[in-house]
Amino acid sequence: MCGIVGYIGGQPAAPFLVEGLTRLEYRGYDSAGIAVLSRDAKAKEKTTAVRTVGRVRELEAALPKRLAGRVGIGHTRWATHGPAAERNAHPHRSADGRISVVHNGIIDNAASLRAALEDAGVEFASDTDTEVVAHLVARSEADSLEAAVLEALGRVSGTYALAVMDERHPDRIVVARSGSPLIIGVGDKEMFIASDAAALVRHTDRAVHLDDGELATVTATGFHTFDQYANATERTPVQLAVAVEDLELSGHEHYMSKEMREQPEAAETVLRGRLDERFATARLDGLMLDPRELRSFRRVKILGCGSAYYVGQMGAQMIEDLARIPADAEAASEFRYRQPIIETDTLYVVVSQSGETADTAFAVNEIRRKGGRVVGLVNVVGSTIAREVDGGIYLHAGPEIAVASTKALTNMGLAFGLLALHLGRLRDLSHADGLRILRGLERIPGQIREVFESEERIREVAGRIAGAQSAFYIGRVRGFPVAREGAQKFKEISYVHAEAYQTSELKHGPLALITPEMPTIAVIPDDELAERNIAAAEQVLARKGPLVAVSHPGVDLARLGVETITVPKNEPELDPILLTIPTQLLAYHAAVALGHDVDKPRNLAKSVTVE
Ligand code: F6R
Repeated sequence: MCGIVGYIGGQPAAPFLVEGLTRLEYRGYDSAGIAVLSRDAKAKEKTTAVRTVGRVRELEAALPKRLAGRVGIGHTRWATHGPAAERNAHPHRSADGRISVVHNGIIDNAASLRAALEDAGVEFASDTDTEVVAHLVARSEADSLEAAVLEALGRVSGTYALAVMDERHPDRIVVARSGSPLIIGVGDKEMFIASDAAALVRHTDRAVHLDDGELATVTATGFHTFDQYANATERTPVQLAVAVEDLELSGHEHYMSKEMREQPEAAETVLRGRLDERFATARLDGLMLDPRELRSFRRVKILGCGSAYYVGQMGAQMIEDLARIPADAEAASEFRYRQPIIETDTLYVVVSQSGETADTAFAVNEIRRKGGRVVGLVNVVGSTIAREVDGGIYLHAGPEIAVASTKALTNMGLAFGLLALHLGRLRDLSHADGLRILRGLERIPGQIREVFESEERIREVAGRIAGAQSAFYIGRVRGFPVAREGAQKFKEISYVHAEAYQTSELKHGPLALITPEMPTIAVIPDDELAERNIAAAEQVLARKGPLVAVSHPGVDLARLGVETITVPKNEPELDPILLTIPTQLLAYHAAVALGHDVDKPRNLAKSVTVE
């Protein structure tokens, strides 16, 4: 959601800005724009700004042929305040055009600032919250751009990453961060600005991640960081963790298919160095919690949004199974609004691929504000949530570009396996059982590869269910989060309504919906509930409902003539991780069969940075 880029150096800025924005397209957006400073005939700096609704290629087509300026900022916008329209696209400018601003985040007191500015005679050109910043900076009487930005931000409350350009100070861009990421890329006599490393990696591998509350002046030859009181801060560039090839399609048709296929390697990476054979446990130093602290927790509460929440449900079950600590998962988006009781003997675990999901970040704030301990299972290194938690487990899945999450979710499942093993071995889980789980985790990467051997058949099945109006995904206990995630993925990219239900609940109502037109995808692991699951499947079949089972080789479904996709059996506690893989493939192939934009499903963004 929303992306920022900026350039200052010896080259024309526009090509970088356009390419950078293209790299940020995956985050989701509905309009885009750039502003470039160049000299006019009177050798005065003038801003050329172009904004369009739609894709970055439409912006590129609208740019003037000659746009030689060497300083510029750009933005992809996801509409929040005001509809997707050219007037609402960034950059926003002061009335005289001198100041240009791009902004990610939300300014909470925009309405009152706007009213005050309008009373003072300012005419607004957009419906956005961002525009107030452009006016506030322009109206400041401070003698430097930095001081004007500080003064403006002193009046603003909310979250932001922003970049400000001033015709009076064409040698610099001033940037600021509070609750939304901003990175300065360090080049050779040129500097780059981006809200996401994906925009930078083609140009530099050295970067500075601004801290919350930090600002910077960026010039062609360097940068200077400072805090909200204008005191200098000390920042050294670090090596960017993302490589160019991580962001390329590399011959795949879609990022989602590439990322699904990267799962075996991603799974190996999250496990690497974390399995301790000798003590049959997991090594999780990043949690920053010693054994005594970890033993003192009497409950585990897991928070995440969407698919991360569903994997959190898998994780809660793993923790209850292996560590025998009461655990549950909850949607982070609901958490802070129900006045949650924060207990000091509860371990809070937040789960997020992007580390930028606003709802999850708010939950972290709520827990910390009330004195709770919170650790994070996060993929993006240095992201907002990763910085705000007390410790955690990085997922190391590599960059995920497709909006529909796959490899990061699998690594969340594995990270929960590690956490449950670790907590279990601090309590009553025996050495033998610890080793059993450890060996199970080790087998998962190879077993994921095996699932892909069935891809062709899954594609055929997907082709058959793609035409449905609606589908059920059913599972129970460990299988239920698998069903929830399966249904989520299916509706997200195929746009076919899919509903997850506990298999045991089917007969209490939804069975009425079963007809030959309503397919059911049933998760039937080889466990103590298999016979009950099969009985429920028979009830569906008796009503002529088409049924596809996602199951294990040991479950006898042949006698019912049920279409079955099998995955290799692992340990019962870890089975949900592998059972999820065919549901990804089902959703993917259904979406392809229906001709949808698999990587950028309508209305959705990769990281949901607004409430
Ligand atoms: C589904 C999906 C979303 C995310 C959710 C949380 O495929 O990608 O449901 O899981 O928006 O995002 P993160 O994990 O970045 O916090």
